[in-house]
Amino acid sequence: MELLKIDHNLCIKCGICSEVCPSGIIGMRPEGPQMLYASACIACGHCTAVCPTAALDHVKAPLNNQVALDKYPIIDADTAAVFLRSRRSIRKYKKDKIAKETVAKLLDIARFAPSGCNSQGLSYVVIENAEKLKKITEATIIWLEKQLADKVEWVRPFAGLAEAYRKQNVDVILRDAPCLIAAIAPQGFEMAHDNARFSLEYVELYATAMGLGTCWAGFVEMVAGSQYKPLLELMQIPEGFTVAGTMMLGYPQYTFKRLVDRNPLKVTWIE
Ligand SMILES: Cc1cc2nc3c(=O)[nH]c(=O)nc-3n(C[C@H](O)[C@H](O)[C@H](O)COP(=O)(O)O)c2cc1C
Repeated sequence: MELLKIDHNLCIKCGICSEVCPSGIIGMRPEGPQMLYASACIACGHCTAVCPTAALDHVKAPLNNQVALDKYPIIDADTAAVFLRSRRSIRKYKKDKIAKETVAKLLDIARFAPSGCNSQGLSYVVIENAEKLKKITEATIIWLEKQLADKVEWVRPFAGLAEAYRKQNVDVILRDAPCLIAAIAPQGFEMAHDNARFSLEYVELYATAMGLGTCWAGFVEMVAGSQYKPLLELMQIPEGFTVAGTMMLGYPQYTFKRLVDRNPLKVTWIE
């Protein structure tokens, strides 16, 4: 199947499509661009999206699904910097449920995160049932307690978490968040973890813009990632799939009034 379709009436033979193709598989011929190695195409859509005259269409990145951009960059750098710094991990949530359409809108943006070779390959499980969320915390704590009992060295710093959960009944794992998102992928998909990091970070940033709050659920991710059956069953992870990343979601109870500082920037300049 021919992946690229060229409208020769529109093509000005500028060659930009060929220049930006990450796989370098679009050749320039006197009559215009030509896909040379279709099997190496990662369907990123760079060629079609960059074309100044919309002369190029791609079967796997159709022009029809593209949105026109009339200004670049979209937001000014100062606004972007403040926005990025304003994102914080939220650990106190309102009890309010999040509308399904809102979660769907939020997750829909995760599709646009970068992924290795444009592999994408993730889907999501959204858990909102309060009882289930409690059980997920409990299962994660049980796993942690087992590691502590087995004297697994690296879990020792987390002993306090298990204790706080047992003695003070604090949800140290999911922070009483009303929603948990799990990015899942078929077992054996090597890029699952990396792709999930980026896709969920898009979720985290977009959530901030939507007035929602998130926090990486690192413990759940770790325990689910270790294929701990009781947790996978609770999360209803389909057979043959693995949990690649997990994130809490909810409306923040509090808003931060100031942007904090971090460690100073360290850079080695090689000139
Ligand atoms: C991979 C990853 C896993 C994390 N897991 C947890 C977690 O299990 N529980 C938690 O409260 N915070 C978790 N965090 C949040 C970090 O503690 C937080 O990002 C860091 O303290 C900086 O604070 P900020 O996100 O508010 O800027 C995780 C963050 C990352 C990147």
